[in-house]
Amino acid sequence: MRSNAVVGYLMTLVVIVAVALAIMVNASEEKAAGETQASLKYVVECPEGAKSATQCKVDPATFTGYRMFNRLCNHCHGEDGVGSSFAPNMVDKFNQNVDYARFKDVVTHGFKGQNGVMPGFEKNQAVMDRLDQIYMYLKARADGVLGQGRPAQL
Ligand code: HEC
Repeated sequence: MRSNAVVGYLMTLVVIVAVALAIMVNASEEKAAGETQASLKYVVECPEGAKSATQCKVDPATFTGYRMFNRLCNHCHGEDGVGSSFAPNMVDKFNQNVDYARFKDVVTHGFKGQNGVMPGFEKNQAVMDRLDQIYMYLKARADGVLGQGRPAQL
């Protein structure tokens, strides 16, 4: 009888420890996922009905992305990513097939597609260090949250 009670007690303890571990693992996974997303999430503040990004304010990372894009990518992809006769519109691309993984891969290594050659920026440390910021800016554009033009910084 007494040993049964001990076994029962031990079993309960095992279950409690297992549940606690499961909760801890789950919580840390959720935190990790949340952190990745949060670090890529732009903040854009525009007055209602804003037609141009010049009326908006964006977080510093997104602003850096705006500047980098319009310094290094705009002569092919058009001002603010609207596209040109030889390189695609970024808003369209982001809404079609370009997710974060594809974006990083393409900008790092480049590729030769049906429309032309996208150069890789692997050796350009300034771009490599700011891939997330450029992504955030283009994502805000693609989500329809930010129009064309130079935003102010929050
Ligand atoms: C010399 C011109 C040129 C420059 C500079 C350039 N690109 Fe491109 N990029 C292209 C061309 C051309 C394509 C389309 C290739 C194709 O689909 O055939 C492309 C495609 C892309 C795509 C779409 C990938 C896909 O899967 O379809 C992304 C995203 C992109 N470029 C991002 C950038 C970013 C960000 C920069 C600046 C850091 C940049 N590009 C600079 C020419 C350029």
